[in-house]
Amino acid sequence: MNSLVTGCAGFIGSWLAERLLELGHRVVGIDCFLDYYPMKIKERNLNGLRNNKNFHFIPYSLLNLDLVEILKDVNYVFHQAAQAGVRHSWGRNFEVYTDNNVLATQRLLEACRKSDVRKVIYASSSSVYGDTDSLPMKESDLPRPVSPYGVSKLAGEHLCHLYYKNYGINSISLRYFTIYGPRQRPDMAFNRFIDAILNGREIVVYGNGDQTRDFTYISDAIEANILAMRSKKKEGVYNIAGGSRTTLNASIRVLEEIIGRKAIIRNIEAQKGDVKHTYADTRRATKDLGYKPRISLRKGLEKEVEWLERITAIL
Ligand SMILES: NC(=O)c1ccc[n+]([C@@H]2O[C@H](COP(=O)([O-])OP(=O)(O)OC[C@H]3O[C@@H](n4cnc5c(N)ncnc54)[C@H](O)[C@@H]3O)[C@@H](O)[C@H]2O)c1
Repeated sequence: MNSLVTGCAGFIGSWLAERLLELGHRVVGIDCFLDYYPMKIKERNLNGLRNNKNFHFIPYSLLNLDLVEILKDVNYVFHQAAQAGVRHSWGRNFEVYTDNNVLATQRLLEACRKSDVRKVIYASSSSVYGDTDSLPMKESDLPRPVSPYGVSKLAGEHLCHLYYKNYGINSISLRYFTIYGPRQRPDMAFNRFIDAILNGREIVVYGNGDQTRDFTYISDAIEANILAMRSKKKEGVYNIAGGSRTTLNASIRVLEEIIGRKAIIRNIEAQKGDVKHTYADTRRATKDLGYKPRISLRKGLEKEVEWLERITAIL
């Protein structure tokens, strides 16, 4: 089997490419090293891939490649590439989001029309829902993003749907709910929190910390991609969450227990675009894909702490 993983030097893409290689796929990875976080972190993400003879890396943007040529022998496309980050997506930065999340997705789907790709699995986001009082969030709810990032991810989903409707390109959109674990992006809360607690530095919490998230461990998100690839479903949108809905404050307490040190917390104003709560109804993913999260928050956080301790020791 031949697969393409876009964004494969990133947090999720690098794990996914490794998993596909383990399953015996030949993997083409594309990543243009957007400078949202340091290149050396992304280079490190690629460590487990570089020497695999079944892995071929293309260090360019989806926007500057002959995608029809690349897709010639590809069976499955796992489209993880995007400019991530809710808070960064305002103002002039929005252009980076429209280019890499909307235009790049459209170019990829357009190239799929001229290929024999069996299915595109698109990394969508819980941020398409926006702030809602109707919890848990269901795929049938009207998406109303409250950040420019959320708008760009929803546009990607819509593009997948319209290429399915008009050109028969099969696609499954997975709405990830806050993914965490080893290699988590350095701008994300747990990575920042663990780093701060380990080093006796202050944790900055946006708002009062009562906001909740349905945290999802990385291996559960990766498994969702494999299930989506294998499923008979040709098209659809699915919530992918960890079933570990917790307040930020409670998750900090778990980290304090694991690390054995008190966090120094400074609360600042809630950020524009951040939603108050995320909480997923995952029944559709369970029914159609057989998805079932396996890693508890405690276990997952232990693994992320272990990883950050290890890489900090190497630096
Ligand atoms: N991490 C999460 O909690 C989360 C939650 C919801 C959705 N997502 C989605 O999952 C995907 C992966 O997220 P992540 O956390 O691994 O982010 P990441 O920033 O670590 O990885 C994304 C990678 O895509 C690359 N990229 C961006 N635009 C590109 C382009 N035009 N051509 C080639 N490469 C490009 C970047 O350089 C980056 O390495 C994204 O689509 C993101 O929107 C992530």
